[in-house]
Amino acid sequence: MRNELEGDILKILVTEEQIKARVAELGEELGRRFQDKNPLFLGVLKGSFVFMADLVRACPVRSDVEFIAVSSYQNATVSSGRVKINHDLQQDITGRNLVIVEDILDSGNTLAFLKDYFLTKGAASITIATLLDKPSRREKAVTADFVGFEVPDEFVVGYGLDYSQRYRNLPYIGVLKPEVYTNSR
Ligand code: PRP
Repeated sequence: MRNELEGDILKILVTEEQIKARVAELGEELGRRFQDKNPLFLGVLKGSFVFMADLVRACPVRSDVEFIAVSSYQNATVSSGRVKINHDLQQDITGRNLVIVEDILDSGNTLAFLKDYFLTKGAASITIATLLDKPSRREKAVTADFVGFEVPDEFVVGYGLDYSQRYRNLPYIGVLKPEVYTNSR
């Protein structure tokens, strides 16, 4: 059955096969890094949910999962992004080796905030795994330890990433047609 979202996609940037192969590699690399360290995979909702599900299954070590939901927003008078926690941690992370799992690292505002937050909560170490990295948009000095793919400054959706809460269920990373976001809202 043809995916009814496909008509809104200008081009595919990262195919389903490329994602699958890269996630398998990342899982193995994380496995080597965290063998016997019982990492806590910490997904940043909502965007990370697809990557998180595939990554933890690709990583062959004893691990736990946790989630936090945040949203960042721009205030007209404040140029730096502010991050709000919508759903907080449900467990003590004191002394844990965290692997923060993100779908995309963009301005860096979200991860800069979260790194500080998790350190104040007593994390022993913080490792960042992001499926996509858009370094051209960086505002905060945040780097990821594990990156799936570096992407140009285009409107990417799919594999967890949304536009207006849609397209998260596309199995690949695509670029949205400009008319989709210029005609609505
Ligand atoms: C996206 C993404 C990251 C953040 C990255 O989340 O999932 O959490 O933006 O951007 P930054 O580096 O500029 O902070 P979004 O706020 O779109 O929410 P979502 O995860 O629910 O889609």
